[in-house]
Formats: sequence, C-alpha cells, structure tokens
Amino acid sequence: MLPLQLVLVPILLLGSCRCQSTSEELSTAIAQAFKVYEDKLAQIETYFANLARQVMLQQFNSEQRIRTDGYSGVKAVRGDRHGPRNYYSKSVIGSRFIAIHDHADFVRTVGMGEINVVINGVDFTTRHNDYSLVMPSTTSTDYHDTEPLPFPDVPPSVLELENVDDQIEEMRTYFKAFATQNTTLRDYRPYFRPNLCYMEAAWTLDKNIDEPFQSDRHQLDAASWMQLQSLIRYGAYTGTKSPEENFAHLPTAIMYVNRTTGEPVFAQWNYRILCSPIEEDIPFRYLKQMEDLQYNVPRGRVGADNRNLRVARFVLYEHESNNYQRYGLLDRIFYNITGKDNIPSDLRQESYGNSLYVPGSSPKELQDTSRYARSTELGGADAMGNKFLARGFNDPNLFCAETTQSRVAPITLDRCKTRRVRGKKVEVCETVETRFSWAIPLEIVYLTPLSSWNPYNILFSDDRRTATAGWTLNGMTEASAYNGTDRAHYYITPVHFYKGRTNSDDSADTARSGVWVKDATNTPRQCSASGQRILTPDIEGVGRVRLRYPIAPIHGEGSAVWKELNALSDFVMSQTATDQEKATLVNFRMSTTTRTPPGIHDHEFTLSVFDFKKIRDDGQTRTVTTSLAQGHTHDLVIRYRRGRFEYVTCSGERICKDKHPRELFPDPDDVANIS
Ligand SMILES: *[C@@H]1O[C@H](CO)[C@@H](O)[C@H](O)[C@H]1NC(C)=O
Ligand SMILES: *[C@@H]1O[C@H](CO)[C@@H](O)[C@H](O)[C@H]1NC(C)=O
Ligand SMILES: *[C@@H]1O[C@H](CO)[C@@H](O)[C@H](O)[C@H]1NC(C)=O
Ligand SMILES: *[C@@H]1O[C@H](CO)[C@@H](O)[C@H](O)[C@H]1NC(C)=O
Repeated sequence: MLPLQLVLVPILLLGSCRCQSTSEELSTAIAQAFKVYEDKLAQIETYFANLARQVMLQQFNSEQRIRTDGYSGVKAVRGDRHGPRNYYSKSVIGSRFIAIHDHADFVRTVGMGEINVVINGVDFTTRHNDYSLVMPSTTSTDYHDTEPLPFPDVPPSVLELENVDDQIEEMRTYFKAFATQNTTLRDYRPYFRPNLCYMEAAWTLDKNIDEPFQSDRHQLDAASWMQLQSLIRYGAYTGTKSPEENFAHLPTAIMYVNRTTGEPVFAQWNYRILCSPIEEDIPFRYLKQMEDLQYNVPRGRVGADNRNLRVARFVLYEHESNNYQRYGLLDRIFYNITGKDNIPSDLRQESYGNSLYVPGSSPKELQDTSRYARSTELGGADAMGNKFLARGFNDPNLFCAETTQSRVAPITLDRCKTRRVRGKKVEVCETVETRFSWAIPLEIVYLTPLSSWNPYNILFSDDRRTATAGWTLNGMTEASAYNGTDRAHYYITPVHFYKGRTNSDDSADTARSGVWVKDATNTPRQCSASGQRILTPDIEGVGRVRLRYPIAPIHGEGSAVWKELNALSDFVMSQTATDQEKATLVNFRMSTTTRTPPGIHDHEFTLSVFDFKKIRDDGQTRTVTTSLAQGHTHDLVIRYRRGRFEYVTCSGERICKDKHPRELFPDPDDVANIS
C-alpha cells in the first residue's frame, strides 16, 4: 500500500493542477508523503520489535516450564516395542540405558545412539552420537579445540616379559586386581584410569551448520541449519527417520532484541560430548547401581543383579550410607573441567553485585567461573539467610561454566545507576554481557592398558583404509589378513587373552571376534578388537569386567511425582527384602557336650536371616528353644561376640546344666549367601 501511495500522491497532485504548479507545492507534497511513510515505518518497527520480544519471552516461558518440570538430564530414547503396560516400551531404558553400545573395532569411539535430553530447560534430540574420546585442548583456547584423551600406560611388569603368553598371564593378573579392586595383588590404579564423559550445550551465534563434536561414524546430514530443521520436521510430521540417524533436533531462539534497531538476534542451540581425565581414583563402590523396576518387572527379575547388563545405570556417590549432600566428589571432578575457554581463564562472574566463592572453601577461595560448577557460595547471606547457592532454581545436575568465546550467544543486561552530575541526577547505563555453557555427566569410562598394549608389534595408521588396503582385505583368513591396524580397524589384543568367542551380543555393536592382522614383520596374528567396550569379553580366571558406568541423570526424576515414586519404590523394595530375610532360615548346631549323664549329644535350632543379621550386625540378642535330644531342650539367649555366636544364658543359667560349651555354629552353606 504504502509505496503505491507514495508514488501516487505527488502524481495526482500534479495531474489535478491545471495551472502552472510551483516546484514548492510539489516538494511540500512529497515531504508530506514521506512523513506518512516514515511514521508508518516507525510504527511497524515498534510492532515488529515488540512481536520479536514477545516470541523471545514465549520461548523463555516454555523453557521455564521445562526447567521446573524436571532436572537437566536424559529424557527418552527412540522407542520400538510396546506391551500391555506402559513400562514395556522404552523410557531412557530399553535393553540398554541411553542407547549405549560398543564399537570396539574403532580406536576411540564410544557407542551411544540417539537420545532426547533436557539441559537447562532446553529440550532437544541428538543425532546418533558415537562420540570420540577427546578432551578440551590443554594448549589452545580456540573455540572447540580438542585433544585425544590420554591412554594409560602398559604396566612395566607386562612389557618386560619377552614371551607373549607370559605377557597375557601378567595382564590377566592386572585385570583380576582391577576387577576385584585388590591393590595388594597388583596396584592397578595408575593403569586403569577413570574419565568423566559429559554433554555440554550452549546457545551459539553460528550461522552455518557446525559439526559440534567428533565421531568416526556419524555427522549431521544437512547443509544448513534451515535444511536440518526441515528434515527433522518432516520426520516428526510423517513419523519416520533417516536410517543413518544423522538428524538432530536443535532449537533456535531469539536471544535479544536490539532496543535501538528492533532487530532480533537469533541463536542456535548446539551440544557436544567430551571426556576429561579424573585424577583421583574412582573405586567401584562409589558407583551405586540403581534398580529400575520398569526393566525388571516385565522380565521377572526383581532384585536380580543387573550390574553386568547394558541396562544398568549408576549414581556416583562416594559415601557408604545415604545422606544429604551439598558438595562432593562429582563437584570436585567437574571443577577440574573448563567450559568453552578450554584452559581455566579465572573468570569471575559477578552475580547481582555478589562475589562467588568455592562452596565450603576455607580460607574462602574465589570461584573461577570458567570451570564447571553446580553450586557456589555468596559473599553475603541471601534473603533466606543462606550463603550456599545451588545454581538453577531446583536442578542438582546443572553444571555451569562462563566463557569468553564470541561464538557463544551472550545474555545482556542493562545495568543502570543514578549519578549526580553537576547537581543533577542522571541515569548512567552500561550493558553487561555474559556467556555460559552448561553440562551434565553422562558416564564414567575406565580406560585400560588394552588401548595401547601391542605385544605383536602391529603397525598403526591414523586413517580408515590402511588395514583393509582400501577395502580389499577382510581379515577372515591368514591370506586376507589386515595390513596392520587403523583408526576404524583396531585389533591388537591377542585373541587368546579372552576365553572362547569374543563376538558381541548387541545388534548395534560392530567389532568381530578374532581377525587376522599382519604384524610389523608381515606375520599374520589373530587379534581381538582393542577399542572401548561396556564389558570386556570373558577373561580367563577373571570373567567379564565392566568399563563403562553410565551416570546420566534423568529429567523426570526432578518432578515431585517421581521423587515420591522413588521413595515408595525404595520403601517397598526394602520391605520385600526384609520379608524375604524373615522367611529364610539359618540352621545352627550347639557345641557337643560329653557329660554323662545324659551322654554325648548336641542340639539344633534355627534363626531367620533377619534375626541372624540383627544379632551379628546390630548387637541384638534373640531367645530360641533348641531341638529335643536326650529327652530335653534348652532355652538360649543368643549374642554375637568376637566373631562368633554364643549363648548368654541357657535356660536361665550361665552354663547349661549338661555343660554345652558356649559357642554356637551356623551352617556354613546357609551363611555363604548372607551379605
Ligand atoms: C588380594 O591379593 C592378595 C595377594 O594375592 C591376597 O593375598 C588377598 O587375599 C587378596 N585380597 C582379597 C580381598 O581378595
Ligand atoms: C544495536 O544496534 C546498534 C545499531 O546497529 C548497534 O550499534 C548496537 O551495538 C546494537 N546493540 C547490541 C547490544 O547489539
Ligand atoms: C583436580 O585437579 C587437581 C590438580 O591437578 C588434583 O589435585 C585433583 O585430584 C583433581 N580432582 C579430581 C577429582 O580429580
Ligand atoms: C600397508 O601399510 C603400510 C603402513 O602401515 C602402508 O605404507 C602400505 O601402503 C599399506 N599397504 C596397502 C596395500 O595399503
């Protein structure tokens, strides 16, 4: 409308004037027309800026809703089967937790499928992850520069053995020490190193699609963010997927509307998976296994040990008994990980005029906000009288790190102060810009010497096609033995290190059992895959050893309903365990007496496992009546002292009338199963 008016008005004015029109009249008319146009444009700009602002707030509202519905954590995996009850279909658990699997034939690939995640209120779906074992660069602060996670050394006591069979024997002993956590057998701790793998996300200003993290197997399959969005919307609309699982749903948002120009600044959500070495040792007992009834109930395995299944999930908690916690091991691990600045840069986020300190530090240590933390301590007490501040409103999994990377979208705040300038009050404003990324833990991955133990001296090439000589060798026979190993065909472990077949049991896994590989002298050797695994194959004399412990938090567990549900499930489960202990009996025998009369004899009695534990562990006593022998019974009060069961009184006397010694003997077979 407007441009047309703009052109028409002066022309009409011209046309309607029969007399000689002055140039003055004409320019006035044009100026008027422009004024109308400018006013309208200014109005539209304001409308548009307000609209953009409203869209931004709408997005914020939806984030706030998700933030308060649950924690930062994993939310769902792709479903397939279902059944008569909702727990027959997958949540974050199917037959695996968060779709983890193995690609042990790749040197550094850790298998993980598509997952739906919430981080700080942003709900997104990843591509098929299959992330690589890399950590933030320790030498460069460039955006997303990484370096390989260090592989542990091979123990010198293995390397110094000439014979491969002897090396295998010694390596097995190390695995046995690690599996049984026996540092006396071998001090395995320098060679079996824990690492924390985590997911990091942020709003970015990237206009072009940016592959956020390395994978040897998957990458985003689109040319632009716009194309990725249409691909994912098509899949959501039609209910299909790309077989390669290379699309991700990563939302965009308006981060900021420029107050001067009304121009919206768009931001693109992106995530990546990284790992970081943990310097402290993480004993297995810190990794508490959760019981997931949704897996166990339909399979009839309630109370069964799932520790060696892919469905097992864990919580990292370093104490023996459950209690409230504010700052612990996981906080210390994350505080050693820097956000997108890579190298700790000693940033000091200023929070509404407060300085921030490391919680519980004494003397008070200023917090370096370039490292990940989920809590902080304020300089002064807050409105509730607290100094401790858990970041987020109610989200114990939200690890936050400040960054100076210009590719991360900033949040801006206009901070205004009233000042007196020459007797007059003036408002002085400055714009504060802050940039953050957020992270959640995914898993503890133990790296072992198998990543670099190479007893056959097989050559390695850092590409994907040397081993197969350009996909002409398949390693199935000595004649077609691989030409050494490469990044995607990593077989250096002697096949007889393991027992029997080393094939995998999951359709998503890729490694094959023993393949033939030529060593440096061109001798074919039979080797097993040496990349990362959830569980090792069966090792002679050791068994299978778990190496990946997923500890990803679950989004839904942040809801009030799920909190009550977990409390209920723990209560019922401990009740069930107690009922079972009450119904299971331990047989006891009294010490034999040789006193005549009444003649050589002993008596028997039983205790429930429940009572057995109360006596043994809690210092309680119980009264029992023994079986009949030589025409009599005894009423015993039983206690546990100095590692043995004994009676305190026998039918009211300190010693039985027929002089049975005090010690009482539980049946070793019955005791064997009691923890
Ligand atoms: C640990 O290993 C040592 C040395 O082999 C052995 O004597 C000890 O019994 C083991 N400890 C446990 C708890 O198995
Ligand atoms: C808003 O736009 C103006 C004019 O383009 C620019 O100078 C200013 O830096 C912008 N403000 C922000 C915070 O981006
Ligand atoms: C963090 O790093 C420091 C310094 O290198 C180290 O002493 C500490 O053990 C590390 N903490 C953890 C949990 O690994
Ligand atoms: C075999 O590997 C070596 C290096 O490990 C490489 O130089 C050679 O080209 C490879 N041979 C073929 C046929 O690919």
